[in-house]
Amino acid sequence: MDLFEYQARDLFAKHDVPVLAGEVIDTPEAARAATERLGGKSVVKAQVKVGGRGKAGGVKLAATPDEAVARATDILGMDIKGHTVHKVMIAETAPEIVEEYYVSYLLDRTNRTFLAMASVQGGVEIEVVAEENPEALAKVPVDANEGVSIEKAREIVAQAKFPAEVAEQVAEILVTLWDTFIKEDALLVEVNPLAKVASGKVIALDGKVSLDENAEFRQPEHEALEDKDSANPLEAAAKAKNLNYVKLDGEVGIIGNGAGLVMSTLDVVAYAGEAHGGVKPANFLDIGGGASAAVMANGLEIILGDPDVKSVFVNVFGGITACDEVANGIVQALQLLADKGEEVTKPLVVRLDGNNAELGRKILSDANHPLVQRVDTMDGAADKAAELAAAK
Ligand SMILES: Nc1ncnc2c1ncn2[C@@H]1O[C@H](COP(=O)(O)OP(=O)(O)OP(=O)(O)O)[C@@H](O)[C@H]1O
Ligand SMILES: [Mg+2]
Repeated sequence: MDLFEYQARDLFAKHDVPVLAGEVIDTPEAARAATERLGGKSVVKAQVKVGGRGKAGGVKLAATPDEAVARATDILGMDIKGHTVHKVMIAETAPEIVEEYYVSYLLDRTNRTFLAMASVQGGVEIEVVAEENPEALAKVPVDANEGVSIEKAREIVAQAKFPAEVAEQVAEILVTLWDTFIKEDALLVEVNPLAKVASGKVIALDGKVSLDENAEFRQPEHEALEDKDSANPLEAAAKAKNLNYVKLDGEVGIIGNGAGLVMSTLDVVAYAGEAHGGVKPANFLDIGGGASAAVMANGLEIILGDPDVKSVFVNVFGGITACDEVANGIVQALQLLADKGEEVTKPLVVRLDGNNAELGRKILSDANHPLVQRVDTMDGAADKAAELAAAK
């Protein structure tokens, strides 16, 4: 989960990474009081989860509270690379910036390690530095068990060739930033720019943090950082029901068991859809191994609640959960939905194969639900589902 800059700033502050004061607002008028609290001037910064805000006009200095209101008016509602600005941060103005550096930690999956990156050429996009001037970007692997002690931090500082007068300060910041990275279960923490101001002090002026959602169970405070406003409502509803669901932009609702099978179902449906006016899969939904009737009902409820869905393809390969259980699940799920007053009106194409397929197919045939059709091959079922979606 990627965070907004203001949330990254809050986490940095919590772990003693030096930052400037800032507060987030969502109306232009609120910029006035916020700027007054900062002594009458501020920096108005668009809060969007995309880089290059400054270049796009999303970072502006305001010399007075009135100017802050004017800049917030300009920036709120602005579109930055397809992201609408709903919030701005009113930040304390850094005293004169003399140098801008870059530091980050990330999980380096390829090398199965953590990686520290640092450069004295910060402020600009680090990808550009890495491309045009690779020796200016130090990359230092960090052992997960050892972490970043002050000695390790000094090693990173030396490799990136930080000027002597800031070396110890930057090393200390690297230790606090490592604390942020580890204690918050982050996959990325990045400071760009890490600025040296006229007094000689070094401050984190912009931060990017991405948290590891797999660690949610031990990070109860992270739930509050979720951006519920811009979450897709179907994805949010699926998440609340513990379903692995991703909304896509097609018309054929997909349910399958196992991520691999669902991925290939998406491909097969997209391919079959070409012959039917270009219909496409409407979602990814993996109901997992031991899919009970209740899970099937939850999944169907989400998919049938998607106004884009015109037909549904249930693709199940029976394994540990045998096809007869899945077939019973489908029949019971349709009954559960009917009992809840959510009558199913969209056609379902069901393909069952694998463990106990024959029995599962018989259960579906016996149930004889008017909207359920059985097709016993994956390609055939995908074609039927695409045809039904195109006909609607
Ligand atoms: N609080 C501040 N006080 C003074 N100047 C600032 C402050 N915050 C940012 N700046 C200046 O604005 C520049 C751009 O700010 P920032 O790094 O936050 O945005 P960005 O790099 O354009 O956005 P992104 O990181 O999303 O690409 C900084 O390099 C810095 O020179
Ligand atoms: Mg930046």
